[in-house]
Amino acid sequence: MKKFLLTLAVIVMMSATSYAAQNEIILPTVEVKSKELSVTQALQQRRSNRNFVDKDLTSAQLSKILWAANGITHDDGKRVNPAALGVQSVEVYAVTKEGIYLYDPANHKLKLIAEGDFRSVTTTGQSFVGKAAVNLVYVETPDAWANARMIPPRDAQISFANITAGAMVQSVALIAETEGLGNCVRGSINRDEFKKVAKLSDDKIILLAQSVGKCD
Ligand SMILES: Cc1cc2nc3c(=O)[nH]c(=O)nc-3n(C[C@H](O)[C@H](O)[C@H](O)COP(=O)(O)O)c2cc1C
Repeated sequence: MKKFLLTLAVIVMMSATSYAAQNEIILPTVEVKSKELSVTQALQQRRSNRNFVDKDLTSAQLSKILWAANGITHDDGKRVNPAALGVQSVEVYAVTKEGIYLYDPANHKLKLIAEGDFRSVTTTGQSFVGKAAVNLVYVETPDAWANARMIPPRDAQISFANITAGAMVQSVALIAETEGLGNCVRGSINRDEFKKVAKLSDDKIILLAQSVGKCD
């Protein structure tokens, strides 16, 4: 009986602290509604918010956030955000309580990279980060330039990626406003640790992070 109770306690403890991650999350198609906030209203309301509560987003909200970050809007593969020479050199990772996922724009889905709650690994110590439903991490990937019609010097590539990441975080901030969600762009990231847990190759550069979620 003692052994049974001990086993039961361990199972209960494990289920309280770990969350099962799906290998991939197929995101629902983004609905472009006419009744949501206007761009002007969203710009007027935009503010960094750090009062996150640890509550899940709906799959429609998660879908919109990833779409605003790096989604495809046109049949020719063009995206929500601009990219120098059309070279898509910024990847978006979504870090939730279940795991680290890489966003796949072509299929509008999230692919599991590592299972577990790594949200706090995306900060150097800001405690609100561990409560945000999703922490986006924007990563420059130099491989993207391999087949470009013109290859700019490395410093220009990095500068272009930072500019695209700036557009991405603003698009996410505006979508977050339309969904009544909080967001905070972050430059302070534990880059060494995140590189390890997200299995990033050494040549990739972590540009920015952004916490998004429900707030008080
Ligand atoms: C590139 C960049 C890096 C930032 N890094 C952080 C950060 O690491 N942590 C944080 O709490 N806020 C960070 N912020 C948010 C700023 O503190 C915030 O935008 C600023 O205080 C202005 O407030 P507002 O966004 O509400 O207008 C960052 C913003 C930018 C644009």
